[in-house]
Amino acid sequence: MQPDLFSTASQTDANAKPEEPDASNPPARAAWLRDELNRHNYAYHVLDNPSIPDAEYDKLFRELQALEAAHPELLVVDSPTQRVGALALSAFPQVTHSVPMLSLGNGFEDEDIIAFDRRVSEGLNITEVEYATELKFDGLAINLRYEDGVLVEAATRGDGATGENVTTNIRTVRAIPLRLHTKTPPKVLDVRGEVMMYKADLAKLNARQRDAGAKEFANPRNAAAGSLRQLDSRITAQRTLRFFAYGVGLLEGAEMPVSHSALLDWYAELGLPVCTERAVVKGAAGLLEFYKAVGQKRPGLPYEIDGVVYKVNSVEQQQQLGFVSRAPRYAIAHKFPAEEALTTVQGIEVQVGRTGAITPVARLAPVLVGGVTVTNATLHNEDEVRRKDIQIGDTVIVRRAGDVIPEVVAYVPEKRPADAQPFVMPTACPVCNSPIVKLEDEAIARCSGGWVKCAAQRKGGLLHFVSRRAMDVEGLGDQLVEQLVDKHIITTAADLYKLGFRALAELDRMADKSAQNVLAALEKSKSTTLARFIYALGIRHVGEATAKELARHFGNLEALLQASEEQLLEVADIGPVVAQSIRSFLSDPLNTELIEQLQAAGVRWPEHVVENKPKPFAGKTFVLTGTLPTLSRDQAAEKIEAAGGKVAGSVSKKTSYVVAGAEAGSKLAKAEELGIAILDESALLQLLETHEQN
Ligand code: IVH
Repeated sequence: MQPDLFSTASQTDANAKPEEPDASNPPARAAWLRDELNRHNYAYHVLDNPSIPDAEYDKLFRELQALEAAHPELLVVDSPTQRVGALALSAFPQVTHSVPMLSLGNGFEDEDIIAFDRRVSEGLNITEVEYATELKFDGLAINLRYEDGVLVEAATRGDGATGENVTTNIRTVRAIPLRLHTKTPPKVLDVRGEVMMYKADLAKLNARQRDAGAKEFANPRNAAAGSLRQLDSRITAQRTLRFFAYGVGLLEGAEMPVSHSALLDWYAELGLPVCTERAVVKGAAGLLEFYKAVGQKRPGLPYEIDGVVYKVNSVEQQQQLGFVSRAPRYAIAHKFPAEEALTTVQGIEVQVGRTGAITPVARLAPVLVGGVTVTNATLHNEDEVRRKDIQIGDTVIVRRAGDVIPEVVAYVPEKRPADAQPFVMPTACPVCNSPIVKLEDEAIARCSGGWVKCAAQRKGGLLHFVSRRAMDVEGLGDQLVEQLVDKHIITTAADLYKLGFRALAELDRMADKSAQNVLAALEKSKSTTLARFIYALGIRHVGEATAKELARHFGNLEALLQASEEQLLEVADIGPVVAQSIRSFLSDPLNTELIEQLQAAGVRWPEHVVENKPKPFAGKTFVLTGTLPTLSRDQAAEKIEAAGGKVAGSVSKKTSYVVAGAEAGSKLAKAEELGIAILDESALLQLLETHEQN
């Protein structure tokens, strides 16, 4: 059924067409044209059921354009004429997501899913869990913010915390309503979903690209991403992008639906495109059945999917389960087997990683796997090459799964040539010639040169240091690092901050402007966080989550530098191997010197004084709602977290306090209903202060 509410319409009956006002009444005529166009848009792009011929649509569209040009006061932001795009002035501004955009854990085998279901049912202490099942679309995650029902901002996922503002481009996506189909919209609604391109639209786009002598897109995801990142949204407007909603961020001024399936039903009523290939099922058996059914349908679907997604249906149960790192415990993606192809191994070389790890890599005759040309595939380590018995000259099956590095699955025995050559692990590093060593209990052989001797390790370490989740130095990529190291311009990360304009501008493929940009990015990166800094150091076994934990636990660098192995073991999730790795890294004078140099270069972060006393808000969960008089939401959350508290997105029995500001909505009501303590900003500040004095 078609919703009965479109932009400015005041219809009461879905089927009753409002009377058509004529041109003598421009405001009424414009409103009528908008409603007509919106109705046809929705029928065409969301319901896939065109209601008028294209030529007729174009005629109405041009009439509205002319009317708005003659009467600019009639133009509204959600007019269908505003979907045509415009040239943006500069790059995309950053947007901080009110609620982080998470990613999903993956499972491939049935056992992974059975284990997931077991974890969930144990976590909830119930025998049979109800799940909402849906497709895993191969596109780009996006957040659409509707305020009072009007689309005001669209942002990419980015790193999950901040993304890019792509509102102008998103407006050109006809499947996305510029105004929700309801007379009673929530105050704020963050709709999450996937922007993608249908297979047929990609084929058409590629044909156009070919004709124009432009680059073709290897797969729908690249095409969608490339189209959304167009600075000229008039180009985006010419490419047919689609959208399916599958999640929610911030919701204010309306009750959160009780289940995921109810959320999606509500979305459909609001005029948002929701995929119909979804179900509500029970237990692992229900999940696997859905997987199988979708697997059979997959080739006939008009768009690419790379798996299915399972989510615990009850929102309350989702909250009970919570999150690990950047993925929720209540959901998992069940991926389809990766795509495979046959090719030949032309050689096996070894690569040296930033920790000296030696990885055998097969050089392959180029082959298209799932839309991407593959020329290299990892063989992981020497034992793996032996176990799989891969030889040079072999015909092999290569596989790639999503963004994962392609790998060699197996060789084809019948096709092995008589002169196939077995792989011989080198005894010396191909880059620095230091001996390659392999510890007894490790599968990985390593170059023993360390970063002092080995340029490959230096490059790897530097690339890690500047990477987005570490120091986030934009514009310093492989090729620059390669040249800087090969030309002996820099050795350590600290040298990066000594780089001058000339040295950079003279490198290959660098212009004055790009050199300036790199210097500016380096300068900007100096102001960081302790967690990022620890992660950037590239200590073995210290990933992002561990770095955050270390920063939280020790509060400042001094305390970390002085921590003994025993003290390190007190940090959540740190075991003997990691503790030992950290201690040995920090005991190396080369590393402590590097840290000093980085600080001397101006790398800094806000220090927290460590409390040996327990954090006052430890174990307490806060929910923020409404607008506080002086603190922004982020500032309030920061203060609460610094005191050891947690900030959650919605109110449940487990909430300790709700901090309410002006125009607090349903969360406040729920808190009152559940009898949860409610604080205003000053009460929160007072509470913090009282604890600080203790
Ligand atoms: S839910 C809380 N549902 O997969 C979980 N994601 O690995 C947030 N994706 O960034 C994501 N289809 O780009 C969800 N039905 C679906 C999805 C889906 C595709 C993508 C999305 C996300 C990534 C997570």
